Amino acid sequence: MWEQNDIKKVLFSEEEIIKRTKEIGEQITEDYRNNENPMLLVGLLRGSVPFLAELIKHIDLDVQYDFMDVQSYAGTESQGDIKILKDLDTSIKGFDILLVEDIVDTGKTIETVVETLLHKGAASVKIVTLLDKPSRRVANAYADYIGFEVENEFVVGYGMDFDQKYRNLPYIGVLKDECYK
Ligand code: IMP
Repeated sequence: MWEQNDIKKVLFSEEEIIKRTKEIGEQITEDYRNNENPMLLVGLLRGSVPFLAELIKHIDLDVQYDFMDVQSYAGTESQGDIKILKDLDTSIKGFDILLVEDIVDTGKTIETVVETLLHKGAASVKIVTLLDKPSRRVANAYADYIGFEVENEFVVGYGMDFDQKYRNLPYIGVLKDECYK
């Protein structure tokens, strides 16, 4: 495989990710079953795409999805200033929103996006993330549904990149130190 010399360790295999995503989808189905508002999954580009694609298969409800692109980091460090590069195409007034993230790190991205979605008239906003890195949290923002917790190390794969590379790996792993140079 092209990437095998770059990966130091695999944290979560494709099978583990799919199994956990199925559990989350089933939990969401149960939690939203009696909600009367229309439901929209909002994926944050580009990292959330593989997770969102797996998750929607396991939500047994009438649900739509849309995407936003916000700029939150360069290289390996998350930053405070977040710019909206692509806004939603859907008018979300009165919708129950599930914001889908690949990883919550400092929490600044979800904090800002949740604020924006509520400002646009969403009835409710909850957050579902594949990974949570709680040791790095700065903002007072937490996910409602979490796939796995990770230590304070930079991860790639299953949508997550290092300088736009490795998003297509079917698993989540950590790069060898020399790859960051
Ligand atoms: P936050 O605003 O600090 O929570 O940053 C969240 C965003 O930073 C995620 O959606 C990712 O795009 C990116 N990010 C944070 N940690 C990692 C990582 O370990 N690997 C890849 N991307 C990351």
